[in-house]
Amino acid sequence: MSVVVLVTGAAGGIGRAVCERLAADGFGVLAADLDMDAVQDVVSQLPGEGHRATTLDITQEESVQATFSDAESLGAPIAHVVAAAGILLFGPDGDRPPLTSITLGDWQLTQNVNSTGTFLLLREYLRSATRHPISNGRFIGFSSVAAQLGGYRSSSAYIASKGAVMALIKAGAREAAPLGITVNAVAPGLIDAPMLRQSLDTRNDAQVSANIPLNRIGTPEDVAGAISFLIGPDASYITGAVVDVNGGYRMQ
Ligand SMILES: NC(=O)c1ccc[n+]([C@@H]2O[C@H](COP(=O)([O-])OP(=O)(O)OC[C@H]3O[C@@H](n4cnc5c(N)ncnc54)[C@H](O)[C@@H]3O)[C@@H](O)[C@H]2O)c1
Repeated sequence: MSVVVLVTGAAGGIGRAVCERLAADGFGVLAADLDMDAVQDVVSQLPGEGHRATTLDITQEESVQATFSDAESLGAPIAHVVAAAGILLFGPDGDRPPLTSITLGDWQLTQNVNSTGTFLLLREYLRSATRHPISNGRFIGFSSVAAQLGGYRSSSAYIASKGAVMALIKAGAREAAPLGITVNAVAPGLIDAPMLRQSLDTRNDAQVSANIPLNRIGTPEDVAGAISFLIGPDASYITGAVVDVNGGYRMQ
């Protein structure tokens, strides 16, 4: 039976590429997102066998718990987690909202999905790993270059939520280490996926790319490649790290 990886946000631009890459790597993908039709479509196109689609709202504590306990009941506990689900809310005019315009509701929804959702997944993963020990477990959260640079296209609510992910994975890495589990995050730069296209028209790609040392917008496959490495055996001594996938847009 394949080793199971839970991928949240599986129907999104980056999530779908991650599912495809991990399926090609030989994992059994448990693809999770809000919309069943969309996630079933992803699963139907994955290479290999042992994949499953599920609806999961990562802000719902009981649903997150059920996702892990259901996998355990099926005899295929979740061995690794890629927490790619996320949101970036723009104003009704389609523009990035300045801090002074962000409603409390939009702030809280953004923290709930991006930060609290990652917390719920990490907490339940570690609880599940305590019930069903796994070898070389991996948890990979999603931060963003926006949280590292202060952001140009996203909102302060999004930036703060992604900063929380960076801090959470460090705390999680310390606590997960005794279980033999690594906890890391990727910080994508500008990636050609739906979230970026909320604020960047393709006609402006050349201008934006001029500020990226590798001179191009990234692809979902670029991020999926980094995830494949972090899940693989060569990354076994990497934990508490934030891996930049940004073409040199931001260098530490
Ligand atoms: N695209 C970029 O340029 C970029 C840059 C930096 C970071 N990121 C991060 O990468 C991740 C994927 O981004 P993307 O560009 O593929 O975005 P996307 O909008 O294409 O995908 C996000 C997915 O998350 C799902 N989702 C939203 N709320 C959810 C919830 N409560 N529960 C479960 N699923 C939920 C959506 O349905 C969607 O399928 C996000 O965490 C995003 O913040 C993206």
